[in-house]
Amino acid sequence: MLSKKSLLDIESLDLEDIKLILSNTDSFLEISKREVKKVPTLRGKTVFNLFFEVSTRTKTSFEIAAKRLSADIINFSAANSSIKKGESVVDTLKTILSMKVDLIVIRHSDSGTARMIDGFVNVPVINAGDGKHQHPTQALLDLYTIKKRFGDFKGLKVAIVGDFIDSRVARSDISLFEKMGMDITIVSPAMFLPEDFSELKVRYQIDDVIEDCDILYMLRMQFERQDRKFYPSIMEYKRFLGLDMGRLKRMRPGSIVMHPGPVNRGVEISDEVMDVGGKLAERIVIEEQVTYGLAVRMAILYLILG
Ligand code: CP
Repeated sequence: MLSKKSLLDIESLDLEDIKLILSNTDSFLEISKREVKKVPTLRGKTVFNLFFEVSTRTKTSFEIAAKRLSADIINFSAANSSIKKGESVVDTLKTILSMKVDLIVIRHSDSGTARMIDGFVNVPVINAGDGKHQHPTQALLDLYTIKKRFGDFKGLKVAIVGDFIDSRVARSDISLFEKMGMDITIVSPAMFLPEDFSELKVRYQIDDVIEDCDILYMLRMQFERQDRKFYPSIMEYKRFLGLDMGRLKRMRPGSIVMHPGPVNRGVEISDEVMDVGGKLAERIVIEEQVTYGLAVRMAILYLILG
């Protein structure tokens, strides 16, 4: 079992927790390859998927993970709830808790919401992304994807490219990759860098790292969180930070390209790279991240509720 009741951020996970999640994920990945993809592990448990912000990967992944473990899962979408009639988040939670749920998965556009809710409820809470703050299950599935490709982490060179100012994925990944001893370089212009990143190794163009990294992690441009223009134009972004075929071909043998999704095609990654076939396609692990994400979330639900 995990050492904490809830999974709110990467900081509060210790090395033993991380190793436990990775080793359990191996077993749960195997279940997804079976003809009957279901085990009775969490029968009788109820998981509440509380999403105040849009999601495809995370929400679906938690839903399938819970179902494959035989838990009951309730999907809550704020847009179709009594929140629209003015009910507060706290009152919504009280209502949900009255129905005796066993675990809450929450996504919210405000940083800190998951921790606030964890302090208020007596059931475990999993942070499925809170504002610009944290997205711990994304970081853990990223780590597992790296493990599957490289076996170990120490000394691996990872270049994380793009919009850091708005990125909960970047904050979670940096924290986790540092814990695992990886060599991190941030690739971003100053306008996309928060002040608390000043301790990190920074480069300003993707060409500075493209031939020298094992993992190229492309961040999503967070258009929906930008209330002002951060970059002169999409054309400039692609020129200095985008991944196109020419750059993909310059990457070292065995290196990989990751992205949390959804990809803004033609911004972070070109259409041509997204649809590449043949040997070069082996470098793009975006779909593997999604596949492993399901097994990671099964492992986390099991380690919290099992
Ligand atoms: N990576 C990620 O969180 O994707 P969704 O917003 O689709 O869940």
